[in-house]
Amino acid sequence: MMRVTVLLIFLTCVVLSLAQHEASYCAFYEECGKNPLPGQPLIPPIVPCLNYSKARPVSGEHYKKLIEVCPMLDRGIDNTYACCSIKQLISLRTSLTLSKVVLIRCPSCVENFAHLHCITTCSPNQSQTVKVTKVINNIVQNQIKKAVVGYQAFINASFAEGAFQSCKNVRIPATGDFAIGTMCGRYGAKLCTAQRWYDFQGDSSNGLAPLDIDFQLIKDGDTTVLPEGVVPYNGTALKCNETTPSGGEVCSCQDCQESCPVVPPPQPPPGPF
Ligand SMILES: *[C@@H]1O[C@H](CO)[C@@H](O)[C@H](O)[C@H]1NC(C)=O
Ligand SMILES: *[C@@H]1O[C@H](CO)[C@@H](O)[C@H](O)[C@H]1NC(C)=O
Ligand SMILES: *[C@@H]1O[C@H](CO)[C@@H](O)[C@H](O)[C@H]1NC(C)=O
Ligand SMILES: *[C@@H]1O[C@H](CO)[C@@H](O)[C@H](O)[C@H]1NC(C)=O
Ligand SMILES: *[C@@H]1O[C@H](CO)[C@@H](O)[C@H](O)[C@H]1NC(C)=O
Repeated sequence: MMRVTVLLIFLTCVVLSLAQHEASYCAFYEECGKNPLPGQPLIPPIVPCLNYSKARPVSGEHYKKLIEVCPMLDRGIDNTYACCSIKQLISLRTSLTLSKVVLIRCPSCVENFAHLHCITTCSPNQSQTVKVTKVINNIVQNQIKKAVVGYQAFINASFAEGAFQSCKNVRIPATGDFAIGTMCGRYGAKLCTAQRWYDFQGDSSNGLAPLDIDFQLIKDGDTTVLPEGVVPYNGTALKCNETTPSGGEVCSCQDCQESCPVVPPPQPPPGPF
């Protein structure tokens, strides 16, 4: 009897741990109160409820909002699934708007930036891409719920690096300074790297991020760090010299190295004869 119980508990644990990362499954869903962060965040640090569950089909208003905030998740009206509610999309839009203020001169950069955050917040394969690492108990409508305050996000390094490259030289409209200078913490624009940029984006002490995201940029062959079942998100980042699918223009030479005219190599000096 004892043995059977132990075996059953063991099997239950195995099943649960296998169930943690799977295509078409969410790791969290819906808003679950606030993260009790110290200091004065710029926007309310609303965090999601832990909820390992099937991705939701989206339609009607939900679909409209999804394709407005996260057009890259659009798979058509009858075939689109997501791991975020309308409320979450509205909050995501608010936080993306704040970054957009400094990145606005370069639409492809804005789009890549949104792409990454749409994936972690809303992707129908969310549980494949993220691993929840920290939860707290929050009271939501008189119920105690587990709220997510920290997770790891596994992202293809080429995609992450491509998104960084598209934003690296974008200038703040009002000042002409590099936008990433305000998005890289103590490193500033000069010492900013893709990893440092993402570290800042996922740092809840920056007044913007509602929770901690540990971005793991995965290169080919890096698979040892991947928890079983995790598949790094493999998307395509737009280059800053490309237009966006929603009709955003190519970024200017001031904001995008690739858009600058190619300077022809200097002519070799004339020979002695
Ligand atoms: C998970 O989400 C479903 C559907 O939105 C909801 O019915 C359920 O109560 C949620 N579970 C938890 C633990 O919040
Ligand atoms: C989710 O995973 C499925 C199956 O691997 C894939 O076809 C689909 O494009 C993925 N969706 C997103 C938004 O990554
Ligand atoms: C990342 O994306 C690149 C280019 O799209 C691809 O060649 C590479 O295999 C991907 N690596 C991983 C770990 O997903
Ligand atoms: C990642 O995407 C690229 C192009 O979109 C594709 O060539 C590559 O095979 C993908 N790699 C993996 C590991 O899925
Ligand atoms: C953008 O720049 C890259 C690298 O310099 C170049 O290969 C590509 O053709 C350019 N794309 C467009 C649309 O101009």
